[in-house]
Amino acid sequence: MNLRALCLAASAYGALASGIVHAETIEVSSPDGQITVAVSDDGGHATYTVSYNGEEVMPAARLGLLFADHHGFEEELEIRGTADNTTTDETWEQPWGERRLVRNHYNEMRVGFIPNKGPARAMVVTFRVFDSGLGFRYELLPTEALGGDIRITDELTQFNIGADADAWWTPSRQFNRYEYIYRTGKAAVVDDAHTPVTFRQPSGLHISIHEAALVDYSGMSLLALRPGSFEATLRPGSDGIKVHTTAPFKTPWRTIQIAPDAAGLINSDIILNLNEPNKLGDVSWVEPGKYVGIWWAMHIRERTWGNDGVHGANNEDTKRYIDFAAEHGFKGVLVEGWNIGWDGDWFNNGELFNFTEAYPDFDLEELSKYAMSKGVRIIGHHETSGNVANYEAQMGDAYDLYEKVGVTQVKTGYVADAGDIVSYDEDGVKQYEWHDSQFMVDHHLHAVREAAKRKISINAHEPVKDTGLRRTYPNWMTREGARGMEFNAWGTPPNPPEHISILAYTRMLSGPMDFTPGIFNLRPNEKPPVREDMQRGDASNRPQTTLAKQLALYVVLYSPLQMAADLPEHYEERMEAFQFIKDVPADWEESVALEGEVGEYVAIARQERGGTDWFLGAVTDATARNVTVTLDFLEPGATYTAQVYRDGDDAHWDTNPYSYVIESRDLTAGETMTLPLASSGGAAVRFIKQ
Ligand code: NOJ
Ligand code: CA
Repeated sequence: MNLRALCLAASAYGALASGIVHAETIEVSSPDGQITVAVSDDGGHATYTVSYNGEEVMPAARLGLLFADHHGFEEELEIRGTADNTTTDETWEQPWGERRLVRNHYNEMRVGFIPNKGPARAMVVTFRVFDSGLGFRYELLPTEALGGDIRITDELTQFNIGADADAWWTPSRQFNRYEYIYRTGKAAVVDDAHTPVTFRQPSGLHISIHEAALVDYSGMSLLALRPGSFEATLRPGSDGIKVHTTAPFKTPWRTIQIAPDAAGLINSDIILNLNEPNKLGDVSWVEPGKYVGIWWAMHIRERTWGNDGVHGANNEDTKRYIDFAAEHGFKGVLVEGWNIGWDGDWFNNGELFNFTEAYPDFDLEELSKYAMSKGVRIIGHHETSGNVANYEAQMGDAYDLYEKVGVTQVKTGYVADAGDIVSYDEDGVKQYEWHDSQFMVDHHLHAVREAAKRKISINAHEPVKDTGLRRTYPNWMTREGARGMEFNAWGTPPNPPEHISILAYTRMLSGPMDFTPGIFNLRPNEKPPVREDMQRGDASNRPQTTLAKQLALYVVLYSPLQMAADLPEHYEERMEAFQFIKDVPADWEESVALEGEVGEYVAIARQERGGTDWFLGAVTDATARNVTVTLDFLEPGATYTAQVYRDGDDAHWDTNPYSYVIESRDLTAGETMTLPLASSGGAAVRFIKQ
């Protein structure tokens, strides 16, 4: 294939104009002109440089891919053809979400590269630059030299942040997957980080690196090349190959969010906008809502998942939870441990799970009927312990059963050390995979599609990270993918006071999290054991927050499925505070991060979808502080009654966590409001329009 034909192939594929230019640099800017990306082939390397307000903020960094059996796209590259940049400005509607209407406004540049040695092949890198950052991805064009299987051995994408930037990250390729206490330090000491990873450069500019639309590819983490300079490293499959594919194909988008302040990171929709629109059609059956569940009782060792005398998933307790849900307006009751397979060492016996057979003290069909008669639904549960082979073998039957009895939401779980997901190859040989490998990326989408066929929605724990696929598959509602509340029952150490004010600017940028907030008994392990052989966890394992902060989590941590995680009896002790959890919605018309600093505090306001109420949540780290917010988000001219749930003046997460005040006052748009937050405290406010 000659060059002309290659260019023709390229233009047929993506409207690239031919024209040979050496050492070319071409640019595209954001609609507001603040962010500019310059792409170059200087020295035969494909590179991109990012500027903000005319200052270079990410110096030239490499682009490229390496293959096992073909030459890759690493050197002697030339820009060969560019098309005119285009602008898109559209608004689309989410079926559920943190805002109903999403504006997708960007300028796009497509750059064709060909290597000027080796057989003919072409790569296009597409850049989309938004006011709040950018995304780019590789597209491989189908040429003869790229026929057949392509095995990607490395992605060469680099990110130059600078050694002096502050960083907030969790380590990648460690046994506990994404469930680590966030590390805070200079970018110079970040070695291998999961994304989203957030940086603050010395100028105060905030940058968060992640990816969007992770489909049929493996997950990326950031490996340090030199201090403050990173390379995308892809999770390998069990055969050592990072990605198996064929041309034509597109990689996920590599995303760089850029904001002058921390709150700006939260107010970006880049990740969703870089995903494809809904592929499921009518999704009115996907229902956001709040739920309770037979769950925390197991984590604080009051009940067990297995059937050994204090089995949590029994008919009587489940009815009690259903009654509680119905009485207080919750839509769902999660039941874990109802199916055979939990006895003994369930962590290591994933092959024993049977997803259609219940323990004798649990009648799925009857309980589901009972729940539905009260306007509530059982939420199903599939713990796999990482044995994906066992799950996939039963998946169709398992979802059929739930569909038959009226279960419309399923929490899945992949408890296994990172790299220990079990599968079998075509010869029946056992293989081990990473949770963020191409294998698991494919598995999750397979599960989501199979569930969608039965109008079932998914909430995955120990998942692959979120990359915005809820836009394309709105039944993939929420997931875990960070340290959630469970660590406060048994994690040593539990989540520290700054946890939420880091999560909000890191993990939460990727999408909703099933954190499971709302613990009201803040010292659960100090309760006496229910049986001698069921000693509670260490007393130091407890939520390191005030009670008011537990309420604020419902606004700060977005999830369309939001749990009231504590036991009904613990809520019954504090019904006045519980009222906020009853009132707060799980679906929003609009959301605005008001202010904060990574690792210190965050204040977010959200408007109820289909209503006029606004809600505000503010949380702080161990430092007590007054947070003053301007109520610009309220409707101008209207008066609102603000119901404020805040820390008492003497509250402190460690010594006095239950001290809170509930008070009410009238406020209008544009006024300011000061919220006094105790050490690891919070405030939750409902604004009712008069
Ligand atoms: C870990 C999950 O995060 C938790 O929510 C669940 O209860 C257990 N696995 C058991 O499936
Ligand atoms: Ca977990």
